[in-house]
Amino acid sequence: MTAIDKLKEVSAFLESKGIEDAAKEAEMLIIETLHIDKSKLYVGSLEITEEASKQIDALTSRRAQGEPIQYIIGHVDFYGLRISVGRGVLIPRPETELLVEETIKELKKRFTVHGSQVTVLDLCTGSGCIAIALAKHFPDADVYGIDKSDTAIQYAIRNASENNIKNIHFIRGDLFEPVKQIKFTCIISNPPYIRKGDIRDLQREIKDYEPIEALDGGEDGLDFYRRILKDAPKYLKKEGIVLLEIGYDQADDVRKIASEAGFKDISFRKDYAGIKRIFVGKQN
Ligand SMILES: C[S@@+](CC[C@H](N)C(=O)[O-])C[C@H]1O[C@@H](n2cnc3c(N)ncnc32)[C@H](O)[C@@H]1O
Repeated sequence: MTAIDKLKEVSAFLESKGIEDAAKEAEMLIIETLHIDKSKLYVGSLEITEEASKQIDALTSRRAQGEPIQYIIGHVDFYGLRISVGRGVLIPRPETELLVEETIKELKKRFTVHGSQVTVLDLCTGSGCIAIALAKHFPDADVYGIDKSDTAIQYAIRNASENNIKNIHFIRGDLFEPVKQIKFTCIISNPPYIRKGDIRDLQREIKDYEPIEALDGGEDGLDFYRRILKDAPKYLKKEGIVLLEIGYDQADDVRKIASEAGFKDISFRKDYAGIKRIFVGKQN
């Protein structure tokens, strides 16, 4: 059988199971199994072995049952980096790249203004994707990533190593608890922010496969914003900054929480759909 025939077969099967991006995902499964480039797949004469065909069938069946494609192939692209993922760690989302982009903009200003060491704290680091992207962009910064999940920290350490990042420390713990002695130029987080009651309505790929502790933001989804914004001022250097990813309808609530925590200079970055998704709070 040729790889192209297999591609057609897998694509049709996934489509029949209601997978939205069936053709693209079929392509990903085949490329991953055969360890080939996309361009090679479309060379019509590429034959695949019986064994490879069976392997592809096994992965296809996992996908048809609802497992996210990223867990099956074991990695995802994030901000130009290859990030390994698997059960127990949240799959980085494209919208989180906005948080990285905005943080880079703010940190650039601080690198030029301050002579002192730039220190960055990524709370709820998960796979480490945000911290690693920032550490790579700012090799002279000292970056910390905290997560309470052991599995997440193991993935984060592996991801730093696979991307050859050295200026980073991943520590398991509850929010600021492991870094109480340090002051930061910048604190960022993409914390759990789904309302507890909304989790059951999420698509099966998320609610049945991704870790609940990466999603659950408490009754109103705002628990982590309250905790982070209340404590952040204690751990910020002078003129420090906090950047947070927020849910599509959380900007007003997060603004209020930040004002009550003493933040004076508050703004939001909108996503490409015009929705406020990134909170930016500065200390005056
Ligand atoms: C929404 S995920 C974000 C992961 C990653 N930063 C990203 O953007 O892909 C939230 C993460 O918060 C972690 N977490 C939940 N409660 C925590 C706590 N109290 N302290 C530290 N991390 C926590 C979860 O384990 C999960 O990895």
